[in-house]
Amino acid sequence: MVSVPLTNLKNDSINPDDAILLFERGGHKVYWIGTHTGGDEIECNTYLIIDGHEGYILEPGGFDRFPHVFKKVCLLLSPNSITHLFFSHQDPDICASFPSWTKWNEQIKLVVSSLWTRFMLHYESRDLSGKAHNLNFVKVPDEGLSIPLNDGGRLDCLSAPFLHSPGNILVHDTVSGFLFSGDVGAAMYKDHTFRLVIDDWNAHTHAMQGFHQRYMSSNRAVAGMNKQLAPLPISAILPQHGCIFRGEEVSRFTQWLGKLPVGADYFYPDLA
Ligand SMILES: [Fe+2]
Ligand SMILES: [Fe+2]
Repeated sequence: MVSVPLTNLKNDSINPDDAILLFERGGHKVYWIGTHTGGDEIECNTYLIIDGHEGYILEPGGFDRFPHVFKKVCLLLSPNSITHLFFSHQDPDICASFPSWTKWNEQIKLVVSSLWTRFMLHYESRDLSGKAHNLNFVKVPDEGLSIPLNDGGRLDCLSAPFLHSPGNILVHDTVSGFLFSGDVGAAMYKDHTFRLVIDDWNAHTHAMQGFHQRYMSSNRAVAGMNKQLAPLPISAILPQHGCIFRGEEVSRFTQWLGKLPVGADYFYPDLA
C-alpha cells in the first residue's frame, strides 16, 4: 500500500493555509483541507478525496468554515465536481456548513447515519415559506454501505455506534487504506500549535485521554469497533480533530483505546 507522501509529512513543514496532499496513486488523491484558527473553537480536520473527476468531502465543518474549505476545494477541482459530503455524525462542527454546499449544488449527496436525517433538516433555514426540503441523503444503516469509486475502489461506510454518537460512521477508503474516524482518535492539545501528525506518542495520548474518557460511551462500544477494524488493511487513521495516525501508530492507537476505561465504564467502575 503506497503511503507517500503522508509518511514523510512533518509538522514544521506544513502550512495549514494550504491544502495538504496525503496520498496519490493514479487518479486517486486524498487531501487535508481543514482549517486552523488558533481560536477558542475546537480545531477541525476536513478531508477531500478526488477520484477521477469526482470529489468527496469528509467532515465539511462548521458554518463559518465553508469559505475556507470552499477556497481550498477550488484550488484542486471545480466545486461542481463534489458529488458527496460524508458526516461521521450529527455534530455542528461537522455538519453546520452543509446548507452552503447544498445551496451551491442541490444534487450533492449527504452520507450520514440513517439516525440523523430528520435532525440534519434543522441545520437548514431556507424553507420558512413551507417549501419542503429537497436534500439528497444517503442513509447509512447499522449494517453499513459501500460507495463505489472508479477502477474498483470503494468508500466503505462502517457503523461504529456510541463512539461517541449513537449513529456514528467511519469511512474506509479501500484505495489509500485510510480510515476516516470522526471523533475517534481526536486529540486536544492545550497550546494552539498546529499539528497534523504525531511528534511525541506520550504527549499525544495525554492530549487524547480526557476527551475519549468523557465522550466515548463504553469499553464495549470500543471493543465492537476494534473487532470490526481488525481484519481491514488500514494504512492511516484520520480523525476529525488532532493528528493523523500513520503506519504502526494505527494498531498502537486501537490497542491504547481498547485498554482505556471510557464513558460509563470510566464513570461507574464499581457497577461493571
Ligand atoms: Fe462529536
Ligand atoms: Fe468533532
